Amino acid sequence: MIRTRLCDFLGIDFPIICAPMGFVTGAELAAAVSNAGGLGIMAFSGNPPEALRQEIRRLRSLTDRPFGVNLILHYPVEEHVTVCIEEKVPILSFFWGDPSRFVERAHAVGIKVFHQVGSVRTAQRAVKAGVDVIIAQGVEAGGHIEGEVTTMALVPRVVDAISPIPVVATGGIADARGFVAALALGADGVSLGTRFLATTESNAHPIYKERVLKANEEDTVLTTLFGHGWPNAPHRTIRTAFVEEWLGKEERGNESRSDELVIGETRIAGELVPVVRFKGYPPSKDASGDIESMNLLAGQGVGLVHDIKTASTIVRELVEGAQSITKNRLNGFMGGT
Ligand SMILES: Cc1cc2nc3c(=O)[nH]c(=O)nc-3n(C[C@H](O)[C@H](O)[C@H](O)COP(=O)(O)O)c2cc1C
Repeated sequence: MIRTRLCDFLGIDFPIICAPMGFVTGAELAAAVSNAGGLGIMAFSGNPPEALRQEIRRLRSLTDRPFGVNLILHYPVEEHVTVCIEEKVPILSFFWGDPSRFVERAHAVGIKVFHQVGSVRTAQRAVKAGVDVIIAQGVEAGGHIEGEVTTMALVPRVVDAISPIPVVATGGIADARGFVAALALGADGVSLGTRFLATTESNAHPIYKERVLKANEEDTVLTTLFGHGWPNAPHRTIRTAFVEEWLGKEERGNESRSDELVIGETRIAGELVPVVRFKGYPPSKDASGDIESMNLLAGQGVGLVHDIKTASTIVRELVEGAQSITKNRLNGFMGGT
């Protein structure tokens, strides 16, 4: 059993979170992690507010455990927040921007508020606004990245700066070794994205999952290339042939041209929509077209992901692995004392 105070605070068994991943962490994956004793956080994925409400209800039908819903503050999310408040989701998780205007309304109905940050400065600002849990994101993370500091250097700094507010480490953690290391750094839990991307329950397109399995820690790049609709926002993605072709010419991807080349289709809230070149969202299993030229977001921890597993297997292996490392490896260093 690996428990921290985060488990008591959230009513979960293990301090393991499935990160919200737009178009990847849907209701099935979030529910699977929550049912396994962790915490699943469903991503927003461009759904209009009423579609989000239906997804929240679907998620509730799949689990009776706590779960979260994530909203990216680059987008107008007022109505989405209202839906989350009306549906009384257990946790609202924010990223990219200032969550302060939502905290009081969420707390008023008992919703806990998470905010993901990439610096001590933004962590302190979020705590001042009343955020309950800070997710400290290192630059090795997959997806959009707020800061420039590695998980190893950032987590203890954030822990020291905002104590006693709980801190969750994210970025580059993909197995039990990273889990234990994060706890040693002072984190109260971990949030894994890239590892949960390669699960049977994840919504990632099969070709995308295949690329994740093949990639190693040197195969990702931090770029602003996929900036159509969300310009100049750094993100870590797999170095595909398409990415290699455009590195150094990122400004082209940030022009958000209305006549941009269409490279495929995907489904948002039941509707088929065109996917244009340089669009930021990764290909879900509903996507068709030139999948390899879409945004295959992944973190440097991708080198540790070799197989597709169920989400519950990953949670179990993290817990058992952490127990084994603590008992067999770390205890061994205490010899003679
Ligand atoms: C495919 C993908 C999509 C992501 N989408 C989101 C998102 O919608 N909202 C968010 O807050 N973070 C998003 N992130 C970032 C994650 O919350 C988290 O910071 C990251 O996955 C941690 O690093 P790791 O991938 O090395 O585990 C995404 C990450 C990935 C890999």
